[in-house]
Amino acid sequence: MATEEIKELPKSWAMVGGDGPQSYTQNSSYQKGVVDASKEMVTEGIKDKLDFKSLGFDSSNCTFRIADFGCSVGPNTFLAVENIIKAVEHKHSLQRPLAFQVFFNDVPTNDFNTLSKTLHSSRKYFAAGLPGTFYGRLLPKSTLHFAYSSYCLQWLSKVPNEVVDSKSPAWNKGSIQCDGLKKEVTKAYSAQFQSDMNTFLNARAQEIVGGGLMVIIMAGLPDGIFMSQAGVGMYYDLLGSCLVDMAKLGVISEEKVDSFNLPLYYSSSKEIEEIIKVNGNFSIEIMDSLSHQIWQTSKKSNIEVSVSGGRAVFQGLVEEHFGSEVVEKTFEHFAKKLVDNFSIFDGAAHEHIDHFILLKRHFN
Ligand SMILES: C[S@@+](CC[C@H](N)C(=O)[O-])C[C@H]1O[C@@H](n2cnc3c(N)ncnc32)[C@H](O)[C@@H]1O
Repeated sequence: MATEEIKELPKSWAMVGGDGPQSYTQNSSYQKGVVDASKEMVTEGIKDKLDFKSLGFDSSNCTFRIADFGCSVGPNTFLAVENIIKAVEHKHSLQRPLAFQVFFNDVPTNDFNTLSKTLHSSRKYFAAGLPGTFYGRLLPKSTLHFAYSSYCLQWLSKVPNEVVDSKSPAWNKGSIQCDGLKKEVTKAYSAQFQSDMNTFLNARAQEIVGGGLMVIIMAGLPDGIFMSQAGVGMYYDLLGSCLVDMAKLGVISEEKVDSFNLPLYYSSSKEIEEIIKVNGNFSIEIMDSLSHQIWQTSKKSNIEVSVSGGRAVFQGLVEEHFGSEVVEKTFEHFAKKLVDNFSIFDGAAHEHIDHFILLKRHFN
């Protein structure tokens, strides 16, 4: 499938920077849970599937290169990288110790200053920032031995044009997400996901050496389940209803609400498997879903995580589309609505899943 590299993304894709109370750093406990839940699988995957000889390592070539695609500001990326390094060191049996080089990738508007300030001084690797969209080439050919991406690839390169076009049958009026209720909308989102994933795989195929591994962790849905049936879909609908309330109050225009959609697509494992097979650059070594708690143990912490975690992730999108002056009001209203309506999640028929995929780059 021919795909086009994407050179630029909207500024708003980045998470809230800094390390203040509203930052991603302080409000990404769900994503940290994902890193924790995948630790064992990453370690086992490296143990079973990494082959130093076929990667071309010998006593004169001892630098192992890793990249985290969509690392954000930390601290989750540091945990993930340390886990990978530990597992690689454990597996390796060469005479000379390995040197590690780690590339931290995210969009150019990501807060790389906070990331570099919080890099551990006692770290065992050479670190480099790698700004740019991962829907395109970022590194020279055959640079990487291990690529990693956690909780990023459900983010599309853009909202499909049709879903915000009032003349299109795929116009998604009345919803801010791919809720699965209108087939034209689902088709448009699914096509965008397919194209973006293919672009991502093609770019990484150039950058990863033959026999190199790639771990992809991303949010998805069980086969045959729609977003509107899942707790997370109800959460996005609640955010959408806040925007409608804001329009009714005259804070934002209805037209603006109609043209706002989340650039997110939650895929099924069947869809991903098909994309990877058709792409043809990687073999699927493991395809599973993580087994971990979607919800916290207490209602209070569930509410806290949903309110502040949501803002740390989506503030940029709201700000860019509606203007910075409405951000505070919108998220205050969202927080209140979440508190008042939290029981709706008890009625969710399904939960989303978090895919865990381990790929190996074919030898050409
Ligand atoms: C939910 S955060 C996950 C961050 C981190 N991996 C973690 O587990 O905490 C998603 C990250 O993906 C980044 N991202 C989204 N689209 C991207 C793209 N096309 N290229 C690079 N980074 C992207 C965002 O800027 C954000 O930092």
